[in-house]
Amino acid sequence: MKALVLVGKDLPLSYQSVEKPVAGAGEILVQVHAAALNHRDVWIAKGLYGGIKYPTILGSDGAGVTADGKEVIIHPGMNWGDNPHFQSKSYEILGLPSDGTFAEYVKIGAKYVSPKPAHLSFEQAAALPLAGLTAYRALITRCQARAGERVLISGIGGGVALYAMQFALALGCEVWVTSSSEAKIQKAVEMGAKGGVNYKTEQWSKAFMAKTGGFDVIIDSAAGSGFGELVKVCKPGARLCFYGGTAGALSGVSPQIVFYKQLSIFGSTMGSDIEFEAMIRFVEKHKIMPVVDAVYPLSEGNAACQRMDKGQQFGKIVLKINAL
Ligand SMILES: NC(=O)c1ccc[n+]([C@@H]2O[C@H](COP(=O)([O-])OP(=O)(O)OC[C@H]3O[C@@H](n4cnc5c(N)ncnc54)[C@H](OP(=O)(O)O)[C@@H]3O)[C@@H](O)[C@H]2O)c1
Repeated sequence: MKALVLVGKDLPLSYQSVEKPVAGAGEILVQVHAAALNHRDVWIAKGLYGGIKYPTILGSDGAGVTADGKEVIIHPGMNWGDNPHFQSKSYEILGLPSDGTFAEYVKIGAKYVSPKPAHLSFEQAAALPLAGLTAYRALITRCQARAGERVLISGIGGGVALYAMQFALALGCEVWVTSSSEAKIQKAVEMGAKGGVNYKTEQWSKAFMAKTGGFDVIIDSAAGSGFGELVKVCKPGARLCFYGGTAGALSGVSPQIVFYKQLSIFGSTMGSDIEFEAMIRFVEKHKIMPVVDAVYPLSEGNAACQRMDKGQQFGKIVLKINAL
């Protein structure tokens, strides 16, 4: 079969023929029709991730068909364990260390597939799992966002960020965004956001606070020095959750603001099997349509990675694998 293989640090992924996997006990083989990129794949390709091994077929997200003809969406988080608060030590994400979805076939534990939501194409379904799950846990489980609350999503061009916005809108929240791009803010407004601000402008928080009145919930993936600005736009009692560290270590956070405003700051990663199923049901109930930024053939996976590395995307970048 054809696959995109990680062959070394900072080397392009290699589009090559590899042996088709054989499902072991408790596993099934999925013929992958579409896969999707996550920033994780770009970090791994650059060598900026723990436990990297060569060769590995990357890819956590996918949708396809099982040997008995079922159309499925893949749950990429394996061995979460029994504790809803955090994952077990044997937790793994598909696509490192085990071979992932950037291939014509992937083998996976039989319990890690769910029926593909009927309102989604394979490409849209492939765009959902990892980012949708991360957004669901951060917004709904961790921050307990509720109808009528004012929610800020930072870096709205990101895959997870867009799901967080769509889920918050579906809950009945008032949503605002930040971005490095005016065009992306405009697109978010067209999808239902009230407005946004460019996080690259100096001290954006002051004017934004005056305009919005502050936020009950903030979802962030960047951390870094911008985190201090996010804390400034919190309403008293706000919940702030981050699931990434794109901009590096947290800095510029005023402890006085955090304790005097009684803020709750959460870290969040992926989600449990129960949250994955709940996320799928939520997407079905609200007929949420994943935002697919671009679709590349599997053979052009490196161009897809470059688009993500440059932050050009608005939503998910998808790899189309087999003729549908
Ligand atoms: N813990 C987990 O379970 C988990 C799960 C998924 C992702 N992540 C992490 O979360 C991050 C985003 O992942 P993704 O897959 O959604 O990536 P992505 O689709 O590549 O999105 C990245 C977005 O981050 C935004 N961004 C970059 N620098 C920023 C800054 N200084 N301040 C605010 N926003 C900034 C940009 O938004 P604009 O284009 O709008 O400027 C960019 O589009 C990555 O670091 C990833 O590793 C963690």
